[in-house]
Amino acid sequence: MLIVLNHKMNLTKEEVVAYEKIIREKTYDDTLVVCPSIAYLPYFQGENYKLGSQIVSQYDGGSHTGEVSAKQLRSLNVSHCLVGHSETRKDHNETELELNKKIKVLLKNGIIPILCIGETQEERDQNKAEDVLTRDLRNCLRELSKEEISKVIVAYEPIWAIGSGNVPSNETIEQTVSMIKTFIEEQYQESVKVLYGGSINKHNYTILKTIFNVDGFLIGGFGLDVQGIQEMLEI
Ligand code: 13P
Repeated sequence: MLIVLNHKMNLTKEEVVAYEKIIREKTYDDTLVVCPSIAYLPYFQGENYKLGSQIVSQYDGGSHTGEVSAKQLRSLNVSHCLVGHSETRKDHNETELELNKKIKVLLKNGIIPILCIGETQEERDQNKAEDVLTRDLRNCLRELSKEEISKVIVAYEPIWAIGSGNVPSNETIEQTVSMIKTFIEEQYQESVKVLYGGSINKHNYTILKTIFNVDGFLIGGFGLDVQGIQEMLEI
């Protein structure tokens, strides 16, 4: 299982230092990826977990104030990077073309992109989820080679489940993950790992873990509770 913790824009330096001290002391059966705020990447250099970034620039480098390049992330031992999280799509008006460029620049620098996709409540109610998700996959993964596709991880995060306490049924998650995997196999003759994300906590984790085709989880709010995460990883 791959467990990705997205800290979003939370924690102070002191809190981060204390958090990291706790996670670096354990060994994990699952692969743990921590995505702190980029300001704190240098504080997460332990060897028993992996480091993820929440953002990356679509550009290689140069005059782009406020951006961070894939090459710079790589120099800080970043191995994974979130791409197209619904919050960055909204806050930065990211287009699918930009996300496609970000995926390419990450792969060029040896970083695994975690492409986040998800439908709104309205789109699900109108039975448009499949169309929305496959259009997004097609555009974000444009012109990638088979080898590159095989390195990409997809995170299914329904927008209506993020931070809301609402989690889709296991059946809905299983069907959607299966649809995503089948689409990619048909389009690119490659298989990818698919994670689920949205309102995961200590209690529903044991239920979600029984979904056979999910390869891991992308966790937001609950990931800030370092003790809770340790307990979850011991289950
Ligand atoms: P929550 O787990 O807080 O719902 O956030 C999910 C998320 O956005 C992870 O990227």
